[in-house]
Amino acid sequence: MNPRITDLQLPARSEKLKGRVALILGAGTSAPGVSIGKASSIAMACAGASVAALDFNLAAAQEVAQDIESTGAKAIAYRADVSNFDEMQSAIKRVMEDFGRIDIMQINAGIGRVGGPAETTLEDWDRIQKVNVESILIAAKLVAPIMVKQGSGSIIGVSSVAGMRYLGYPHLAYSVTKAAVTHFIKMLAQQYAGDGIRANTIVPGLIDTPRIQKNVAKVFDANADMDNTRRARDRQVPMGRMGTPWEIASVATFLASDDASYITGTEIVVDGGLTGKFV
Ligand SMILES: NC(=O)c1ccc[n+]([C@@H]2O[C@H](COP(=O)([O-])OP(=O)(O)OC[C@H]3O[C@@H](n4cnc5c(N)ncnc54)[C@H](O)[C@@H]3O)[C@@H](O)[C@H]2O)c1
Repeated sequence: MNPRITDLQLPARSEKLKGRVALILGAGTSAPGVSIGKASSIAMACAGASVAALDFNLAAAQEVAQDIESTGAKAIAYRADVSNFDEMQSAIKRVMEDFGRIDIMQINAGIGRVGGPAETTLEDWDRIQKVNVESILIAAKLVAPIMVKQGSGSIIGVSSVAGMRYLGYPHLAYSVTKAAVTHFIKMLAQQYAGDGIRANTIVPGLIDTPRIQKNVAKVFDANADMDNTRRARDRQVPMGRMGTPWEIASVATFLASDDASYITGTEIVVDGGLTGKFV
């Protein structure tokens, strides 16, 4: 059975992140439904964390914070553009005033535009670089010193299989930035390993989130019909289906927890076998 997520599916409760504060950058959803940031925020709250849900769409972050609070956990929404240093600096300052610490940071916001060199404008290229890569520099500048002072922390980057392979259609700027995410996080891991900070990247495959309607549906169906798009994406995957955002969220929760205490500087591919196949 295809476990298509149409509603909130709360993960099992645990205390693996009890007492920790998780900052999720891009915690909202770009259209109604469940995104990777939303599922990760809720999953970490179900594991005992308090959540600082940051997004440039404040209403989307507030919706996530409300969902979390309805489970009994603490959550606060913040508005900031992850590519804007000043906005991020003031948001992180408020997170520290509200929570006093940051134990987990998932750098999740990501954008893209389908196209190769001919279709990619220099403006698109710059914007995608800024949101997908410069945001990591900004987040690390602001949050790594806090984690160093604490003597602990877990940083989680969100890349894509597009950063490893050509997906069958040009998604150039997105793919190049997603390759950079993995390498950036590896560099952070090495630099901060002695400070008790772990840094790892999740590499999702084809995941069924609302953004595929906005971003890539036209590649799979000329009319961007979502049923056809879903069927076409499902067919590409050896497991016969796209992943759910909850299947990424559970890996994020694992990487954030002490279960991953000796894992740093690496990536976990979560793709239903996609990158292992020949055609
Ligand atoms: N859905 C997939 O198939 C898939 C596959 C691989 C990787 N990913 C990656 O997972 C991450 C989340 O993807 P999703 O599908 O859940 O997307 P989504 O678009 O539903 O969620 C992304 C969230 O980030 C926010 N955001 C975007 N730009 C921002 C900015 N400049 N500042 C602050 N917030 C910003 C959006 O408002 C949105 O709430 C992205 O990095 C994406 O590249 C997704």
